[in-house]
Amino acid sequence: MTRSVYFALVALTLYASGTVTPANAAVQSQGKGSIEMKPFGKTKDGESVELYTLRNDSGMTVQIMTLGGIVTSILTPDRDGKLDDVTLGFDTLEGYLAGHPYFGCITGRVANRIAGGRFVLDGKEYRLATNNGPNHIHGGLKGFDKLVWKAEARQTDQGPQLILRYTSKDGEEGYPGNLNCTVKYTLTNRNELKIEYEATTDKPTPVNLTNHAYFNLGGKAAGNVLDHEIQIFADRYTPTDATLIPTGEIKSVEGTPLDFRKPRKIGERIAEIKADPVGYDHNFVLNSGGKELALAVKVYEPKSGRTLEMYTTEPGVQFYTGNFLDGSIKGKNGVAYGKHHGLCLEAQHFPDAVNKPNFPSVVLRPGETYRQTTIYKFGVR
Ligand code: BGC
Repeated sequence: MTRSVYFALVALTLYASGTVTPANAAVQSQGKGSIEMKPFGKTKDGESVELYTLRNDSGMTVQIMTLGGIVTSILTPDRDGKLDDVTLGFDTLEGYLAGHPYFGCITGRVANRIAGGRFVLDGKEYRLATNNGPNHIHGGLKGFDKLVWKAEARQTDQGPQLILRYTSKDGEEGYPGNLNCTVKYTLTNRNELKIEYEATTDKPTPVNLTNHAYFNLGGKAAGNVLDHEIQIFADRYTPTDATLIPTGEIKSVEGTPLDFRKPRKIGERIAEIKADPVGYDHNFVLNSGGKELALAVKVYEPKSGRTLEMYTTEPGVQFYTGNFLDGSIKGKNGVAYGKHHGLCLEAQHFPDAVNKPNFPSVVLRPGETYRQTTIYKFGVR
């Protein structure tokens, strides 16, 4: 089948299923990539899950499912043009339903940790699930990663776009206020996966949304990421206690294994981190200050030549090196995901910000709109 016939067929299918308008269908056959949907199975509650495939005209394919808005695969070329999948996950929905450490998902209502699963807002105390030792993590027992989002596929000038919507009810997982959330995933022709988050509320509530993709630029069976080089545009970080709750201090990375101001191999100083299991799991305070979209992180994998740049509007990034992966999870192609087989770059407000008055606020009030944009840009060198 020729490329144009293929795009025309995809466009027709989407048009017939009502997911794109005729105007968009026409754009699809004019070299702006494509977006295609197929059923992916059902959740344990019998809800249907769909898998969307976004293709651009620069050789990249990204798949995202409606369960948790999970990015299930990212196919991107190496320096010889060979495609491989650079994100951890499973081949089937069943893999995800069996449980996993937040592969590729939208994370919220509040990503990262809240100390003791409690906070006080406008004089009222709220109690949340403590699902990470003594603390609350990633939105609770059924956070945004475990919900089926409503999807709309579109063609935009920048490329194929998947819009996901979810309304989190007042009291859901203990959080106040009905929160209307929209997450837009766009695959641009510049090989960027652009993620735009928006939320509004009818009561004051903390909000901190991110994506929890685990990257391995070496590809599907590349082993650990310790040879990846990383540069983080952060002079400072937020030290934590043993349960990874920030102490409230903001300290310089100077003279510590967290100094990635110049590119360094992840493995170079990882053994110096005092943690069990050892590895990076730190919030970096980005120099950009979280005011506008700015380059935050650069990653390079020497064997494949693949590069990843992260741009974000957020003030922080949790750099996590898959320390808790222990080989017990078998992912795509049956590959066992061992320690450090993936790295996460979770653009975010700082952990436990709702309890730390000196950190940038995560409180959203009625009438305001929460917005965050993060771009993961893939390339080669
Ligand atoms: C946390 C890690 C955690 C991982 C999976 C990261 O955001 O910082 O400590 O293991 O998510 O839950």
